[in-house]
Amino acid sequence: MKCSCELGDTTILILEPEQYVGALKMDARRSTILQTENLTKRFGGLTALNRVSIKVERGSLTMIMGPNGSGKTTLINVCSGILKPDEGRVLFDGEDITGAPPHEIYKLGFIRTFQIPMPFLKLNVLENVLVAMKNSGESPLKAPLRPLWMKEEEENVKRAMEILGRVGLSDSWDKESFKLGGGQLKMLEVARALAAGAKLIALDEPIGGVDPAYANEILGYLSDLRKNLGITLLLIEHRIDLALPFADYVYVMDRGVVISQGTPEEVSNDPKVLEVYLG
Ligand SMILES: Nc1ncnc2c1ncn2[C@@H]1O[C@H](COP(=O)(O)OP(=O)(O)O)[C@@H](O)[C@H]1O
Ligand SMILES: [Mg+2]
Repeated sequence: MKCSCELGDTTILILEPEQYVGALKMDARRSTILQTENLTKRFGGLTALNRVSIKVERGSLTMIMGPNGSGKTTLINVCSGILKPDEGRVLFDGEDITGAPPHEIYKLGFIRTFQIPMPFLKLNVLENVLVAMKNSGESPLKAPLRPLWMKEEEENVKRAMEILGRVGLSDSWDKESFKLGGGQLKMLEVARALAAGAKLIALDEPIGGVDPAYANEILGYLSDLRKNLGITLLLIEHRIDLALPFADYVYVMDRGVVISQGTPEEVSNDPKVLEVYLG
């Protein structure tokens, strides 16, 4: 640092150029990747989302919790383009994606997995990841250049195996997907999202119906993805006893409204949250 000085409550740092670049990178890592502004969604007379504003920090594991029917799934559906909002805005990775179709939002790297995972059940686990992978396609111009695409295939398989390792599915690579358990299918969906180049993966109840030991393992994989790959995870969960310790930041919803937000500790000590869950 060149020097620093105090100006009222503010400390001014004069940085060397290389420190400045480092600070900018830190800033980019801390920036918001997904933001909603006053998002409102009505189904007939029912307001499922009522002016919901959230910010999801890049590289965080952000959790949305709340009782059944509080609007969690609707929020993710509106953000990912499956439903159109009645009012408000959605910003993702610096772009206004309000009302954009799901495939466009997917291409930008916002990938949601469904409550019921839907990979190609007849393909094996590895094939499912390969199908999701972005590649240069079967160009007729490249067809005569067999060594070239052979090399690309080899690299894709290597990358797919590496991805499977990150979600704990290495040993199941040659299993047909329909033989996987519910939790494993969700992890396969996460693997496919990674293969497709996800920046943010939204998961709707990934540990629903999973036994506590494997649920913990799953949450560990997800938490590592954010730590090791900088992937942002947006997680809907109602099994808060298991999931809360893995979250960086939490939003609590009730009847279409965000009633509390903060660190896991802050929200679990918030009387409004206790009232919704116990009252
Ligand atoms: N497609 C829909 N049509 C009509 N009502 C819906 C629809 N989807 C959700 N709802 C209603 O909106 C509210 C919020 O639902 P949802 O977002 O699924 O809640 P959560 O995921 O928190 O359980 C509920 O009252 C639900 O019945
Ligand atoms: Mg739901």
